[in-house]
Amino acid sequence: MFGKTVFMKAVFWSVLLSALVFGRLATAGTQSDGEPVFSPPSEESIPAGSFGDLVRQGEKIFTNTQKYAGHYVGNDLTCESCHLNRGRRAYAAPLWGAYGTYPRYRSKNHKVNSLGERMQGCFRFSMNGTAPAVDSQTVKALVAYSFWMSRGAPVGVKLQGAGMVHMAPPTRSPDPFEGKKVYEARCALCHGIHGQGRTSRGKMAFPPVWGAKSFNEGAGLYNVGKLAGFIKMNMPLSKGDSLSAQEAWDVAAYVDSQPRPKKPVAK
Ligand code: HEC
Ligand code: HEC
Repeated sequence: MFGKTVFMKAVFWSVLLSALVFGRLATAGTQSDGEPVFSPPSEESIPAGSFGDLVRQGEKIFTNTQKYAGHYVGNDLTCESCHLNRGRRAYAAPLWGAYGTYPRYRSKNHKVNSLGERMQGCFRFSMNGTAPAVDSQTVKALVAYSFWMSRGAPVGVKLQGAGMVHMAPPTRSPDPFEGKKVYEARCALCHGIHGQGRTSRGKMAFPPVWGAKSFNEGAGLYNVGKLAGFIKMNMPLSKGDSLSAQEAWDVAAYVDSQPRPKKPVAK
């Protein structure tokens, strides 16, 4: 009996260990080719009826935040400016990777946050605006959109491609002067030489990456490591993973060294 238990334990640990090792290898492989484990449902599968209407409203707010929730927005960004491809893109904090991991504790506000409360943070800092109430129609619609997108995703686990890539420390300290060269060669075409972004027929085509109309100093991307991870996987747009890690660190250091709105004082 005793022997059997020990044997079972050994089997258990070896299975766990190989799962961990295999999991790590799988993650490494996946990060380079950008394939997430979870594929969110197709756009066409948003159902008809009142639930579908709420989901569609959430998607509109997410992709055209000025038009559908402009009251809460203080810059030229939309949620999709960072949560790329309508919140579906792996390694750009996709909504399907977020939904099943809330409520979650955040040291930033020292409490357990619901998904709606997490979204309020992005309104205040990333959108440099004011947070809609958690029970507002705006947050209800955004939560419905996230809920729909994560249908079938396991809950309580961090899925591959969820959040953003955690960069290993760079070989030499991030250098904004080197970063400026990368920026001018690889980014300025779309985001403008002064980081101001570009409009086309009065509408924002490429979002500002610094200056009065960009995210403020309280935002997640106002952190060189986090910004480097976002850039490494996603920028230049559609050419993700084409910069070296050092280039991503340098250009992130350059972008975050430029002026932008201050962090708003806590209410
Ligand atoms: C300037 C970039 C930016 C904009 C704009 C932005 N966010 Fe975020 N958002 C982030 C970053 C960075 C994180 C943190 C990701 C991480 O830590 O892995 C985040 C996290 C989140 C999360 C939690 C994700 C997770 O996996 O835990 C949600 C939900 C979210 N944002 C919703 C929104 C909504 C809704 C909007 C629009 C009102 C918005 N965001 C606008 C950058 C942005
Ligand atoms: C081909 C055009 C293009 C190039 C080149 C490009 N970007 Fe972007 N970038 C975009 C677009 C478009 C978005 C917003 C995505 C959306 O709204 O769907 C974006 C979003 C961003 C964001 C988040 C939103 C914001 O305004 O802060 C950052 C940061 C960013 N890019 C940095 C960079 C950096 C750094 C480079 C150079 C390494 C770069 N981009 C190159 C088109 C581009």
